[in-house]
Amino acid sequence: MAPDSGGSDASGVARTHVVTHLPGDGVGPEVTDVARACVDAVAARHGFGIDWRPCDLGGRHYLTTGEVLPDPVLAELRRSDAVLLGAVGTPDVPPGVLERGLLLRLRFELDLYVNLRPSKLRPGVGGAVGKHQPSDLDFVIVRENTEGLYAGAGGTVHRGSEFETATEESLNTRAGVRRCVQYAARLAKSRSGRLTLVHKTNVLTHAGDLWHRVAREVAGEAGVELSYAHVDAACLWMVDDPKRFDVIVTDNLFGDIISDLGAALTGGLGYAPSGNLNPDRTGPSIFEPVHGSAPDIAGKGLANPAGAVLSASLMLAHLGENAAAAALDDAVSAVLAAGAPASTGEWEKALLVQLGASQADRVGSADRGMAS
Ligand code: IPM
Ligand code: MN
Repeated sequence: MAPDSGGSDASGVARTHVVTHLPGDGVGPEVTDVARACVDAVAARHGFGIDWRPCDLGGRHYLTTGEVLPDPVLAELRRSDAVLLGAVGTPDVPPGVLERGLLLRLRFELDLYVNLRPSKLRPGVGGAVGKHQPSDLDFVIVRENTEGLYAGAGGTVHRGSEFETATEESLNTRAGVRRCVQYAARLAKSRSGRLTLVHKTNVLTHAGDLWHRVAREVAGEAGVELSYAHVDAACLWMVDDPKRFDVIVTDNLFGDIISDLGAALTGGLGYAPSGNLNPDRTGPSIFEPVHGSAPDIAGKGLANPAGAVLSASLMLAHLGENAAAAALDDAVSAVLAAGAPASTGEWEKALLVQLGASQADRVGSADRGMAS
């Protein structure tokens, strides 16, 4: 976090957070522009400021410069308090270049070992299952984000021959599992006290056993109630009886898959936020909507910015701005309760109205900017 100035300056800003804005490709710029406007609106009302730093990375940048994540850019990112990321990916970049070279490298280098993915059905949103009520579905997936099948262990031998062999190995370290489950247990403690481990211990007996033993230890230490679900059954229950779940902790790939199911149950990918967290705060955390760059609708003003705004809400909470974070979350709910807007521009207008950013306020803050 940027050093506190120790008091308000003339504009009433008591503290400033340095946030890198990495819009990326496709709909990324459109949705993060809305998120930025909303963050600035709540910041003005809650006495803090954001020092936005632009960062150009992603598919378009790679195709024009050949750069994926240059070391000096990574060093610059490390100096911010948080990163707001839109989406990266263009259809003409081969699979893996940006996924492994940019997104996963950021997760590994910045030690973003928790991927926080809340699934909450909000009034006014039709989830994929008609019978769900908002009170039935409000859980958080804590996905381990630096190990498992994503670690990159494995390889290919005898490529192209009949004996070609490809392996992907799941890496699970006691320390890596433990710190992830500890985060999930703390979160469970702050909510209902219920934590569910999702894995596949009946088949993945090595990794599953480690996860289950560590989860029992950590739950005991933290004083939370631990239950267990195999990942296949967890999918069924997420659809059939989602009330069972409050905080779910799971490995990297299972978390990737079940969080898309969680998104479908709560309105679709457009509504799903995520936070790639470094809970130890040895570096910045990255906040991004779960949806991708959606090149088919990019530039048409049709993108749903809710996932980006809710990701910005997670970001503000991580920065310690809890009241402002809640204001963003509430604004999304209020807009949805009145009927989801049809365009990105309508969303922005409706959100800013909810946030109380009247025209007068916006002119006022522009005036202050010019005077300083
Ligand atoms: C996600 C995405 C990424 C993942 C890809 C793009 C590397 O699907 O954030 O869920 O698998 O983690
Ligand atoms: Mn995914």
